[in-house]
Amino acid sequence: MLILGLESSCDETGIALYDTQRGLLAQALHSQVDLHAVHGGVVPELAARDHIQRGLPLLKQVLQDANVLPASIDAIAFTQGPGLAGALLVGAGLANSLALAWNKPVIGIHHLEGHLLSPLIDAPPALLFAPPSEASLPSSHSCAPGSTPSFPFVALLVSGGHTQLMHVEEVGRYTLLGETLDDAAGEAFDKTAKLIGLGYPGGAALSELALQGRAGAVVLPRPMLHSGNLDFSFSGLKTAVLTQVRRHCAPLTLSERADLARGFVDAAVEVLVSKSLKALEQTGLKQLVVAGGVGANMQLRQALHAATQAVGKTVHYPAPELCTDNGAMIAFAGALRLHRWPEQAHTHYAFTVKPRWELSEA
Ligand code: KG4
Ligand code: ZN
Repeated sequence: MLILGLESSCDETGIALYDTQRGLLAQALHSQVDLHAVHGGVVPELAARDHIQRGLPLLKQVLQDANVLPASIDAIAFTQGPGLAGALLVGAGLANSLALAWNKPVIGIHHLEGHLLSPLIDAPPALLFAPPSEASLPSSHSCAPGSTPSFPFVALLVSGGHTQLMHVEEVGRYTLLGETLDDAAGEAFDKTAKLIGLGYPGGAALSELALQGRAGAVVLPRPMLHSGNLDFSFSGLKTAVLTQVRRHCAPLTLSERADLARGFVDAAVEVLVSKSLKALEQTGLKQLVVAGGVGANMQLRQALHAATQAVGKTVHYPAPELCTDNGAMIAFAGALRLHRWPEQAHTHYAFTVKPRWELSEA
């Protein structure tokens, strides 16, 4: 089965082809970061207009790279939500138009489902797409350190819009364990970066700068570290940074900014690691999967690696290019769903988008 995947929920247009026998065949991505950077954040109308311009050229590139003709595509998967309404509508419109023109079935995918399944993309397709009689195989393949994870696992979703811990039993069986009560982790990274004079989106730059900062020079609060549940809160941490910035009469020197960045990253990482370990303990599961843009953060990766290893558990990530938004995760999630539930695809081509959509309802 060959699935075309389209992602357009925010500021990346992503298109990819996933084959249930050969794996990921090709993917192409356009990031709108430069378009929005001058405005200090994503401008929804500009995002939607840019998706319109990028979709077809990226599609052409993916078909060429994979050496595939539209006739051999079996179904089209697109991000139906959550995300920016206009951006989602462009992707949904393109997916349904192509499906109508090519006479293919189409399926809407939850963006976060794409993220949390993405660490499995590198697993051998034969393990994931067993014939129906061997459908339990995906739950039983190896989970040795360094290998791809297998169901069930705990997923830590840390992106610009979401911070959630999920219990993932199987495709389509997700239970929310905890989530942020205010800002998402990536949002806190970006807002803090802005406060200390880094560009947008500043998460990666802030983490880089933190490497030059001194441990313990600035100690910031660890919000909800001892809350007794698996929820997060990051807006107080951002406010603590603002208070530190305001305390200085003169502009911050580079080393002061680095110390502040270090203080923020250490606090955010400690909370994310602590809650992730509690989630593993609470569920009795052995594997943690990290997905979403903040999953690219090296400090978080190192801390999670050390912490899980210390308790005999494992942590898994998608390839770095699959941490942020992309079309491959949507094609892959579409393939996993259609393998189990072919009836979820439709050919009536009437579509809606779901800017707000709980994963447990997907
Ligand atoms: O998953 P993603 O691409 O988009 C959303 O669905 O939100 O995540 C983007 C977020 C941004 O907030 C960005 O600053 C953050 O991920 N990010 C990072 C790093 N790379 C990207 N945050 C911390 N450290 C990084 N290395
Ligand atoms: Zn995302």
